[in-house]
Amino acid sequence: MDKILKTQNLFKKFDGISALNNFSCFVEKNEILGLIGPNGAGKTTFFNVVTGFLPSDSGDVYFHGKQISNKSPYRIVADGISRTFQDLRLIRQLNVLDNVLLSFQNQAGEKLSGVFFQKNKIIQTELQNRKKAESLLEYTDLSELANEPAGNLSYGQQKLLSIVCCLAADAKLLLLDEPVAGINPSMREKILSVIEDQKKEGKSIVIIEHDMDFIMEICDRVIFMDTGEKISEGTPGEVRNDPKVIEAYLE
Ligand SMILES: Nc1ncnc2c1ncn2[C@@H]1O[C@H](COP(=O)(O)OP(=O)(O)OP(=O)(O)O)[C@@H](O)[C@H]1O
Ligand SMILES: [Mg+2]
Repeated sequence: MDKILKTQNLFKKFDGISALNNFSCFVEKNEILGLIGPNGAGKTTFFNVVTGFLPSDSGDVYFHGKQISNKSPYRIVADGISRTFQDLRLIRQLNVLDNVLLSFQNQAGEKLSGVFFQKNKIIQTELQNRKKAESLLEYTDLSELANEPAGNLSYGQQKLLSIVCCLAADAKLLLLDEPVAGINPSMREKILSVIEDQKKEGKSIVIIEHDMDFIMEICDRVIFMDTGEKISEGTPGEVRNDPKVIEAYLE
């Protein structure tokens, strides 16, 4: 299988504490990789480094074989890596539809020259984006809330909306930071089926999650990390039964 993402020897320290300690891994095309480990293991730091939100101290990140280390988050999402945040980062005062519209990559009116010379194209792109946003909201049963401020939604609905925003970028690789933490069983099922649909559409997905049952259910492969290091890697069953993993969770 082809590797869509590869990271080599990533190091990142915060005030002397290793968040990533020689961390290397890969994501195959069209697989769902689970990234698990205790609080403070370095999971979110890994997402932050891959997506350009934090520079690593050293090491390399390759997407489709091309080095993307040190690119800006904006360039990286344009290349095809989209993410959610553990703390959601929706714009709570803006309505649901506008939150999705802001997540599209092809905002045609962003360049001033475009405003004067490509008026029709801008209008067309905005119409297309609106249509796509509406169909994403329909697909996730959020249409009725399209005009509600995002801050009025339940926590589970906000989590789902953050995933919709991630999908709007139409990225090939999705990085989901705790997509089902703290939500009710029916929303969990919905998010599970949205992620499964993405895989069917050929996307590659990395999921950080503490909910082991969810990881076991949905992932093709799992990496367990602790103190910035990869401790175990394999099928969900192999990792769950690895004595090193059992020991780490019992500590
Ligand atoms: N921006 C930052 N500034 C300082 N320290 C940070 C920063 N981001 C992460 N850390 C530290 O790096 C370590 C790894 O944090 P990280 O958020 O990556 O862990 P995590 O595996 O995502 O944990 P959790 O499961 O609790 O979300 C922790 O010790 C954390 O306090
Ligand atoms: Mg985290």
